[in-house]
Amino acid sequence: MEIDPWGSDSVEDYSRLFEEFGIDEFDASDVPEPMELMRRGIIFGERDYDLVKEAMREGEEYAALSGFMPSGNLHIGHLMVLRELVWHQERGADTYFVIADLEAHSARGMTWEECERYTREYVLSLLALGFDPEEGTVYRQSQNRELQDLAFELGEQTNFNELNAIYGFDGETNIGHMQSTLTQAADILYPQLEEPKPTVIPVGADQDPHLRLTRGLARRMRMFGVTEAYASFEIEDEHKEAVRQAVEGLEDVTAAELAEEVDDGELSERLRAGGDEELKPRTRVLSRDAPEDAFDALSDELESLGKVERFEEHLDVYDADREDVERIVREVEVEHGGYGFYPPSSIYHRFMTGLTGGKMSSSVPKSHIAVTDEPDEAREKVMSATTGGRETAEEQRRLGGEPDDCPVYELYAYADEEVCDDEHAERVYEECANGERLCGGCKSEAADMTADYLEEHQEKREEAEEKVEELDAL
Ligand code: TRP
Ligand code: SF4
Repeated sequence: MEIDPWGSDSVEDYSRLFEEFGIDEFDASDVPEPMELMRRGIIFGERDYDLVKEAMREGEEYAALSGFMPSGNLHIGHLMVLRELVWHQERGADTYFVIADLEAHSARGMTWEECERYTREYVLSLLALGFDPEEGTVYRQSQNRELQDLAFELGEQTNFNELNAIYGFDGETNIGHMQSTLTQAADILYPQLEEPKPTVIPVGADQDPHLRLTRGLARRMRMFGVTEAYASFEIEDEHKEAVRQAVEGLEDVTAAELAEEVDDGELSERLRAGGDEELKPRTRVLSRDAPEDAFDALSDELESLGKVERFEEHLDVYDADREDVERIVREVEVEHGGYGFYPPSSIYHRFMTGLTGGKMSSSVPKSHIAVTDEPDEAREKVMSATTGGRETAEEQRRLGGEPDDCPVYELYAYADEEVCDDEHAERVYEECANGERLCGGCKSEAADMTADYLEEHQEKREEAEEKVEELDAL
């Protein structure tokens, strides 16, 4: 499976994202006051979100960033990302909204004028949803020179083969489009330019390729890497878990002794070559072309944690907490002019289904409710939506409907909690599934709910008009 972030397919099988790409299942249980989209399983996946949860709990600095290509009408499906940004901003995140005009120009052929028009559209909704422009930042890729310099540097760490492997590019892909992937990687790291901090990128799962690229780049931009190690010689990552367990279970074991215990041929050969070296857990810090003075300073600083053994290209620290080592490494790196990036965290939401079935798409007006639709127009779109209902009312009462395959149900489930609380969304689900609810009534309720929401949102957009003018980044 390959994910094409510019493709028209929706992600079909969310569970495969876990196995194939290493996305973790989202766990709302230890999020302080989780957002409704988290509680309802719409935000279903994450990478390294623990870093952000911890920062939130500890009141430490962290950031949130996301963005859109200004390339079409904003619809209620898009509002999810904006709501996620505002939710994080309200919980102390340093929050950024990116207008990806370079990407829209290169990948969608939008003119700069079109980009400007949509930028305004999008920002009005962001403000209407409660984004605080004084605390947060909105920028256009094309207007941000610092961002472009970072993108250029990231390009020095990337090659053609890597982009092809991640995005399925080939020799026909235009260079501007390729460059826009580096610009997006720069967006994702941008909140950390001044100072490294955990950063969450709330997106649809189709954006995961960009996160994979950026997480690799964040590592390569570091002066130092931190890993666990057990011996002076290297042990493959895939074998480390087995060695860790063995070393914990057996005291004072030598490499050769352990070689007899393990049943993996390759590992045991490697261990045998290690002879009578005693295996001992340690935290290893590898230098990636770190300047000599940074390496010296690091070696001194790490002494405060435990015994440090110094080698040509790495340091081993004994009896220290890995997190403490990482903290000191990052501090020393930043003091010596490095970036010290944290790997970016991400959260992934499911896409809304189009009202006509298939994907909700900004180029198919009937499939979506645009934020600028007249409330009556929206009401009609909902009334003519496909549903997960049965052919006849009799059948529906007997068999129940299929809310899991119903875009109308999603209008309830994805709604802001102010509009539809968890209890009501659950009730709709149950009543539908057990046949108590019929589609006609269910649709008109959803239609009213949607129209009311739009009306309110549009009022807030109007109020935001003045604030838009103040945003100098635009
Ligand atoms: N590629 C995103 C889109 O298609 C837009 C985007 C650009 C973005 N930079 C970003 C999203 C950084 C999240 C983070 O709409
Ligand atoms: Fe969808 Fe409502 Fe019909 Fe159930 S009753 S299938 S939720 S429209």
